[in-house]
Amino acid sequence: MLKQQVEMHTTAASAEPLQPDATALTSRRRFLNACACQPVDRPPVWLMRQAGRALPEYRALRQKHSFLELVQTPELAAEATLQPVRRFGFDAAILFSDILVTAEGLGQKYRFDENAGIQMDFALRSAADIARLDVNALPERLPYVPRALRRVRTALGQQTALIGFAGSPWTLATFMAEGGSSEHYTHAAALFRKERKTYFELAEKLTAAVVAHLQMQIKAGVDAIQIFDSHGGQLAPMEFQEASGRWMRQIISELRIANFKLPIIVFSIGTHGNWDDLLATGANVLGIDWRFPLADARRLLPRDVGLQGNLAPSLLNDATPEAVAAETLRLLEAMRGRNGYIFNLGHGVPPEAKLENIAALVETVRGFK
Ligand code: CP3
Repeated sequence: MLKQQVEMHTTAASAEPLQPDATALTSRRRFLNACACQPVDRPPVWLMRQAGRALPEYRALRQKHSFLELVQTPELAAEATLQPVRRFGFDAAILFSDILVTAEGLGQKYRFDENAGIQMDFALRSAADIARLDVNALPERLPYVPRALRRVRTALGQQTALIGFAGSPWTLATFMAEGGSSEHYTHAAALFRKERKTYFELAEKLTAAVVAHLQMQIKAGVDAIQIFDSHGGQLAPMEFQEASGRWMRQIISELRIANFKLPIIVFSIGTHGNWDDLLATGANVLGIDWRFPLADARRLLPRDVGLQGNLAPSLLNDATPEAVAAETLRLLEAMRGRNGYIFNLGHGVPPEAKLENIAALVETVRGFK
């Protein structure tokens, strides 16, 4: 179905702002208009972690390949990226990859294990460990990233938006200092609280690495960037700016100085007491997590900043399709008339999500008038 759409719409796409006939919007145009707070026919929709274990076709790929093989083989990464777009017709695709690819680019490798989650080759603890991280080698360590993106772009044409991403320096630091997934991430916070200078050295390197990683993705043709600050909420509100916010701000300002104009989405979880810091990042769009009422975000945030979110992910596991549709509609109504709204979950699709619930969500957004 996607292929037909691509063929039908390749000539309709353009970099021009709004098309006069709103019904002729391609998914890509709809998504980009929403990012720019321009009018749309209906809000665009994509879901964080839309690729992955909830899809039978992804589980079939995983029978044959490890997670890292999927990430590091351009054909397979492209296939995993396209699977959810084919099945649900999302307005945007997000590269199948991981935030820890940036760590690998710096020389700290990672693995994924069904039971233990993410495991890094070592835990980054000392100033000497940090000194060994090598930003300059990042592009040559990650040749599969632009290759996968070019394949996806070719398959999508100009019909569907393509999102690139990276983790925030703080969130990367939590995984890298811990040495992988953990119940509690204590080491990065201890570094920030007790050895501020060393933490800043790490954050500076991670900032440079994220900028290099994002530049590579931008040059390979992504339409927008999302920065995932999944662990921002582990900080006290008064720590957030120095540990996380200012580094995201620096990333965005470096991309702007390099004259990259594409929209940038900042999604920081559990930090909705830090609106001023989040706005100061310079993000065009802020992701709202599922714990914060979207109507309050609408009331609190300036009209020239887009909002993305925020259906509670667990509804996809254990609510009925009717209940998912009703909650989706409630969110759409709460945002009615607000330019710059992108429908999404308030965090990623859980592996146990029911396909009929994802379908109910997407159909409700697509039918919204
Ligand atoms: O569809 C998409 O959204 C694109 C792919 C994507 C993945 N990871 C694939 C993945 C994206 C955008 C990410 C980002 C990511 N990775 C984040 C930020 C978003 C968030 O969820 O907060 C974080 C914190 C990571 C680090 C990470 N990667 C963890 C903690 C885990 C293990 C947890 C888990 O889900 O089991 C991963 C592995 C991972 N990354 C999987 C996927 C599909 C699971 C592996 C598999 O299903 O085979």
